[in-house]
Formats: sequence, structure tokens, C-alpha cells
Amino acid sequence: MKRELKKLTRDLAAWLAVQDENLLEPVERAGQVSFATNIESVEDLAAETEKNESIASAEKTLYQSYKERNMEPAKKMRLENLKEKVVSCRGCPLGAHRLNAVFGTGSANARIMFVGEGPGFQEDHQGEPFVGRSGQLLDRIMETVLGLNRPDVYIANIVKCHPMKNPENPEAHSNDRPPSADEISVCRHYLEEQIRIIQPLCLVPLGSVAAKFLLKTDTGISMLRGKIYDYEADIPGLDRKIKIIPTYHPAALLRNQNLKRDTWYDMKLVKSLLDSAT
Ligand code: URA
Repeated sequence: MKRELKKLTRDLAAWLAVQDENLLEPVERAGQVSFATNIESVEDLAAETEKNESIASAEKTLYQSYKERNMEPAKKMRLENLKEKVVSCRGCPLGAHRLNAVFGTGSANARIMFVGEGPGFQEDHQGEPFVGRSGQLLDRIMETVLGLNRPDVYIANIVKCHPMKNPENPEAHSNDRPPSADEISVCRHYLEEQIRIIQPLCLVPLGSVAAKFLLKTDTGISMLRGKIYDYEADIPGLDRKIKIIPTYHPAALLRNQNLKRDTWYDMKLVKSLLDSAT
């Protein structure tokens, strides 16, 4: 069945390439597929119906990917506009001391979006999320379990500037701290807008702060992880729920190797979600 669908999809791709104007209404057309004339029995009819349903579903998939490809430039532009706002943001005291705002990086069409709590020393210096030791571990996890690299996913944080214990000294090491509730409430709309623009299949909060924020709960990460949740926010134009699969922060893995097994399990959940959606 899968092989047959793949072939149908290939044939359809070729056919659709020369019928571009029809691409705008594949679903309607799918309801009007004409039956073959050699139907002589109920079995023939059932087989024909199944074939037509396969075609309809393959058309829908093709249409979806066509639509996504065409949405990418608009999404990129919206992200660029939002980034400009973040770079000039002074909405909370973090903005006064940061070296660089850390907006987020990756594909505007990413199906997976990792969410950390906030930039650390390295991220503040380089202006990119997860570029320190935690980030290197995150890269390895992505590659080995998901088969994905940075350009395939999107990585962002809840707050966009480095929360420091001593904000007067951004050059000091061991100066990181979690963002405060006030800092989160000032900055949260940037991440929420990034999610509305990218519309990923799945959000992966890394660690307690991000998981609690996205799931609107006080429960800690060890209780939240290992399960799939819905992201309960209205996303205009989206007729599906974005999923949330929380896992440990890579910094926690660096401190405690025993958390690796659970993290691998969570990433396998992400992988199975990705596979079932293709
Ligand atoms: N930790 C985070 O939560 N985010 C980063 O970008 C880096 C480290």
C-alpha cells in the first residue's frame, strides 16, 4: 500500500506540475474523481473507491507541501521583521546589559522547534541560541536520534537576552541564572509570535522552565516528560494542534548522565511523531 501510494504521489507530482492552476482546489476536485467504466461488481467499486481515496489523500499531501513551500518566503519575512523588534527591544532590564539579543535560528518551515529558557554566556557573545556545550550536545542528539541538523529545525528561547546574576559584568563566567517571572512575561510574546509564524508540528521544551511555560503548569520536567501534549493556543489558520514533547535540558544531561536514557526515549517520541506525519 505504501509503495503504491508513493508511486501515485510521484505520478501526481508530474501531473500536477502541468496543471498548476488546478492546484488551488485539489480537495474539491478529489470529491469529483470520476469512476472507471469497467466497474462490474461491488468489489470493483470498493477497489475503485479505495484508489480514489488514495489519490485524494496523496493530492492533499502534495497540496500541503506546495502550500508550505510557497509560505516559506512570507514566514521568513515575518521572522525578519520580528527579529528587528527583538534586537531593539528594551522592554526589561535584561536589554540594557546584554551583549547581543538572541532571537532564534533555523528553518522558517521547521517541523520541530526546540525551546530553551534563555541565552547563556556563549549565546550572549555570539547572538545565537545553544552554541555552548549544551548546544553541542543538542546537535548530537538531533543528529543521532532524529537524523536532523540545525538548518532542519528551529531553536529559540523564552527570553531573548542573557539573564545574569551580575548584570554589570557580561564577561564573567558562571554568571547565568534562570529568567524571572517578570522577564518571562515581558518577553513571552516574541516566542509566541515565532510559534504562530513557524507553526511547527511539535514543540520540544528543554528543561523545566520552558516546559512549565509552554504547558502552563507548575509541574517539574521529570513528571512532564515522556508524554505528548497539545499546545493550547489559538494559531490563526491552523486546523491541527501543535504537539509538545518536553524533555530534559542538555545542561542537565551534562551534569547527570543518568538522564540520557529518558532523553533518548523522548526523542524517539519526537521521531515517531515526525514519521507518522509524513
Ligand atoms: N540554555 C538555554 O536555555 N538556551 C540557550 O540558548 C543556551 C543555553
